Amino acid sequence: MTDPGQLTNVADYESLARTRMDPAAWDYQAGGSGDERSLADNLAAWARIRLRPRVLVDVTSRTTATAAFGTDLPHPIVVAPTAAHRLSHSEAELATARGAAAAGALYTVSTIASVPIEEVAGAAPDGPRWFQLYAPDDRGECRELVERAVAAGYGAVVLTVDLPLAGNRERDVRNRFVLDLGANLAPDQPTDETGLVMGPTLDWDDLAWLRSVCPIPLLAKGILRADDALRAVEAGCDGIWVSNHGGRQLDTAISGADALPEIAAAVADRALLIVDGGVRRGIDVLKGLALGAHLVAIGRPVLWGLAVDGAAGVQRVIEILRDELSLAMALTGCRTLAEITPDLVAETAA
Ligand code: GLV
Repeated sequence: MTDPGQLTNVADYESLARTRMDPAAWDYQAGGSGDERSLADNLAAWARIRLRPRVLVDVTSRTTATAAFGTDLPHPIVVAPTAAHRLSHSEAELATARGAAAAGALYTVSTIASVPIEEVAGAAPDGPRWFQLYAPDDRGECRELVERAVAAGYGAVVLTVDLPLAGNRERDVRNRFVLDLGANLAPDQPTDETGLVMGPTLDWDDLAWLRSVCPIPLLAKGILRADDALRAVEAGCDGIWVSNHGGRQLDTAISGADALPEIAAAVADRALLIVDGGVRRGIDVLKGLALGAHLVAIGRPVLWGLAVDGAAGVQRVIEILRDELSLAMALTGCRTLAEITPDLVAETAA
């Protein structure tokens, strides 16, 4: 058990996690594609945004509470799907599920989890959870995964749409790192040479089909353009997850933070909006909400908490961000998430 007093922010967890992990596994998680420009820009995009705080608001009493598809959540911080948690901790996704649930965070479990999704659900039966889907080419297999998720109490399916082929992850190539497909997919999935599942045939027809067989809310993850977002909503998606896949797919792709305003304006109230990419501070969460997201997701920070301290580390990382968000709300004169409005962001942000 690490003394949490020494770990005051997410960056502290990152530094310590790095010392705990196998270097090739670290590179797989930390790295981006190509020249890693999107990877860096994801952080820079939040930093570029400047805030216009409101003053003289009594902020003694504040709440970060929200809801998604009828599920109450104590805060808007979501655990993004990331693969293969056994790389970070021997208890893998079981620890992530416990930590997320203890911190009240919605956990999006990856198709490429190290542990069967039923066991992840069983580790924190009351924790809110969604299932991220890498859609197998075979519709029967795809449907079976959706049915398993529904049966295991997952509240939504999050279809990843930005991985027709895996991005050019040069760290993995150099390290000859091969990802384990995990416990949920049939072993004959098409993968690239580093083990990532690919879906080059996935198209709008497949999305329409998936909508027709998915009895729970469906989100499309990896959308960066308003026209795609609108088309997904018209295809029946209940949520749009604005993301460049942690800078791991198309290098120089726009960040979620930069893509969000256009998508929020186009989609308005027709779908739940989530943003991710480079969120390292509660202030970033506040900016995501101000720009129109309903929920803000974190990927790598959760893995750092997991590597440092298992479930307790996951819990602590989320709580740090939640507390930073609450403080940022106080300092911008916001008592509720509804008060986190676009005018808090300076026009000169770009
Ligand atoms: C998996 O989704 C990855 O980005 O490695």
